[in-house]
Amino acid sequence: MTILCQPATAPDDDLVPDLGGSVKSVDDLNAALRALNDDPAEDLVVVGPSVDTDTALRFAAQLRFDRPVAGVILVRDVVDVTLLTEALRAGVREVVAAGDTVALLAACERSRVLSDRARADLRSHDEPEPTRQGKVVTVFSAKGGCGKTTLAINLAAALAAAHGERVCLVDLDLAFGDVAISVQLDPVRTISDALPMAGHLDTTGAASLLTPYRPGLDMLLAPIAPGDAEKIPAALVGELLTVLRGMYDFVVVDTPAQFSEHVLTAMDVSDHHVLLTTPDTPALKNLRLTIDMLDLLSYSRDIRSVLVNRSDSKVGLSTADVERVVRSPLNGQVPSSRNVPISINKGVPIVIGTPTHPVSQAITRFANDRLLSRPVAVRTRAFARRGAGRRS
Ligand SMILES: Nc1ncnc2c1ncn2[C@@H]1O[C@H](COP(=O)(O)OP(=O)(O)OP(=O)(O)O)[C@@H](O)[C@H]1O
Ligand SMILES: [Mg+2]
Repeated sequence: MTILCQPATAPDDDLVPDLGGSVKSVDDLNAALRALNDDPAEDLVVVGPSVDTDTALRFAAQLRFDRPVAGVILVRDVVDVTLLTEALRAGVREVVAAGDTVALLAACERSRVLSDRARADLRSHDEPEPTRQGKVVTVFSAKGGCGKTTLAINLAAALAAAHGERVCLVDLDLAFGDVAISVQLDPVRTISDALPMAGHLDTTGAASLLTPYRPGLDMLLAPIAPGDAEKIPAALVGELLTVLRGMYDFVVVDTPAQFSEHVLTAMDVSDHHVLLTTPDTPALKNLRLTIDMLDLLSYSRDIRSVLVNRSDSKVGLSTADVERVVRSPLNGQVPSSRNVPISINKGVPIVIGTPTHPVSQAITRFANDRLLSRPVAVRTRAFARRGAGRRS
């Protein structure tokens, strides 16, 4: 639709049939503005010769900011260079000599094409960029030394090896993180470098913190300087994981052996919780406490896996014993092997160094069955409830 601004008293009625398409006539530019506001699809105002030039130019200049998609065409009795220069400056799309009906019709057509393009351009800017929605997987055990770091590294490597998934391993054991040393990486950049970006972290900032390890597998390493861990606020962990999940297919989080605020924040944003135990009484007692705690905090059981590390340990409890404690079937068992510490001493995760090893196969099977082949479960909204109960 085109708005024709031409006072009713003006003699130039001939303009109307020359504009192409449907035309709404208004008496002055205020009415033209109202008509534009009434209908967001209006995209052309033709200002007839009897409307004052300065007023028309001010109108065009304002419209350029308020409604950049709309065009203004000025019809004047006299068209000269001065007028053309001023019109150009004001953002008028074309100036047409009164009476030149062919030129006016062509100008209207050109303006409509421009408006359509501008509208399409605006739409494409409005649409959010397609982002990854990777899965965040937190590996946890409340008892130290169960093999969290070993599992987290190998799980990340197994996921990265599968179908070209992009994976980031985050070392959230902020005080005693040993991911870097386990894979012989020099921690030049660590989570500490995220501190100045807290509250406004974006993908570029997050990418600057990462240490590439292998194709498809990057690492966000733990701080190295003593005391740095305490400076990392838990909220920054949530921010980091949220940004990273937009960059990777999987974000695997290694944790310390306590329910810190940082761990709980990671649990909040996680799509999957991998609870690790070894087949001994203290580890199982801690696993039971962990499960009770997670239930209490209303984390969904659907996103939980329980994995027994060193499951064939000679002095260990049986699978049945473990399942009794867990009150559900186990989701994976990783055997014990001296090749595991050997692989760590070499700095090459066993899944990468010896993919056929029973330990590698158990971890790869777990990755396939529990993480790669499952759709993302609906995450629980435990955060708010926990916030009300536990946080200040
Ligand atoms: N399946 C396994 N077979 C043999 N040794 C293992 C196995 N899994 C882990 N280990 C060894 O157990 C030790 C502890 O493992 P790891 O550091 O991964 O545990 P963690 O839970 O991360 O410990 P922490 O709580 O101190 O962070 C390491 O020496 C590792 O090599
Ligand atoms: Mg560890």
